[in-house]
Amino acid sequence: MSEPVPPARYLARPVSTVGGELSVPGDKSISHRSLMLGGLATGTTQVTGFLASEDCLSTMGALRAMGVQIERPTPTSVVVHGVGMQGLQPPAAPLDMGNAGTAMRLFMGLLAAQRFDSTLIGDSSLMKRPMERVASPLRQMGAQLETLAGRPPVRIKGGCVLHAIDYTLPVASAQVKSAVLLAALRAAGTSSVTEPAPTRDHTERMLRGFGVQVSVEGPRIALAGGQTLRACDVQVPADFSSAAFFIVAGCLAAKGGLTLRRVGVNPTRTGLIDMLRLLGAAIRVDPIDEAGPEPMADIHVRATPLRGARIPESLVALSIDEFPVFFIAAACAQGETVVTGAGELRVKESDRLAAMADGLSAVGIQNELLPDGLRIQGGTIRGGTVHSRGDHRIAMAFAVASVRAQQPIEILDVANVATSFPDFPGHARAIGIDLSLC
Ligand code: S3P
Repeated sequence: MSEPVPPARYLARPVSTVGGELSVPGDKSISHRSLMLGGLATGTTQVTGFLASEDCLSTMGALRAMGVQIERPTPTSVVVHGVGMQGLQPPAAPLDMGNAGTAMRLFMGLLAAQRFDSTLIGDSSLMKRPMERVASPLRQMGAQLETLAGRPPVRIKGGCVLHAIDYTLPVASAQVKSAVLLAALRAAGTSSVTEPAPTRDHTERMLRGFGVQVSVEGPRIALAGGQTLRACDVQVPADFSSAAFFIVAGCLAAKGGLTLRRVGVNPTRTGLIDMLRLLGAAIRVDPIDEAGPEPMADIHVRATPLRGARIPESLVALSIDEFPVFFIAAACAQGETVVTGAGELRVKESDRLAAMADGLSAVGIQNELLPDGLRIQGGTIRGGTVHSRGDHRIAMAFAVASVRAQQPIEILDVANVATSFPDFPGHARAIGIDLSLC
């Protein structure tokens, strides 16, 4: 019998500076949505800047399994031949979402009003994540869905007639909001979703691009059922959440500066910039003047001394995916940084509060795990071995920590970095991070 192959790991060695210019791959949230809306539209949707990561390829595979023809003329461009609102075909097997929570939750909304039954499954991390937050409002609209004690597999009954809902989200979640809006397209009457705090609004912006009338009044988003989608071209900006790793690396070690090109700077995504500025970071955002629903900018950063701060809870939803790498910045700041109101981090691809608390302790940074946050005492990153818990963002965050470490950092179980950021090591090396995959 052959020995089991150990999961991939990173070795990140200390460096004295990073810098230069970098373009990171396309936005994951927008890439998922471009495939889904393109598939439901009438006509052909051309997507440029597409993120060909494992998560987005799961969405692509599911749409193909339901009869949508999708071509990939280049690695970052996609042509989706829409089948219209009623045109999806029953899949022959359960639809496998891999590691992608966004794919599973948005497909729940999209499939709730189809005429056929479907089942959604995923990898071991996704099979543990909460799905009732989506199933519950969809049931209130008349859909029939079953979860297994709140988790996948999700079984969706076909042929249900949906009616409109006025739904107030109990947690700030763009995935739940988007699932309800996708189901609302097929429901009788006008539905609304009210958010407790602003979350990423890519679905609303893209629906408008596809010709859907969406009204937004303060925290309330409403749309009338029965509208159809008209194909359009989608330009996907570079992913702010991928740029975030290098923004922090630059704040920590770019003595001569670092520039990230053409990054998506939708204000519902850029809370990290505000949080880093609270620590004293030097970040300049130069908007790029181009028409399109998603704003873009070049982002310039340079290393400055950082000091700890208490982070306002109002910034949490606007930076929800950036906390792992923000905690690395906090670890290098002088004094204490406190984050609260971030309990949602416990139900991401891993329990990110616990994963970061353990990882920071392993590299010599004192911290206290709070029920809904983390208290970090800035200090010297020694180096050591960190377990990513199979979570892409934990793995990349500790790779960034190496720019201020005294000794190498070994990061275990990093294969899932490919779910969001193909060739992260190549991009990291391009700005001077000494990162190898072992
Ligand atoms: C996403 C929404 C967020 C985010 C996730 C992507 C989306 O999740 O963490 O990575 O594309 O809508 P929640 O809606 O659960 O906060």
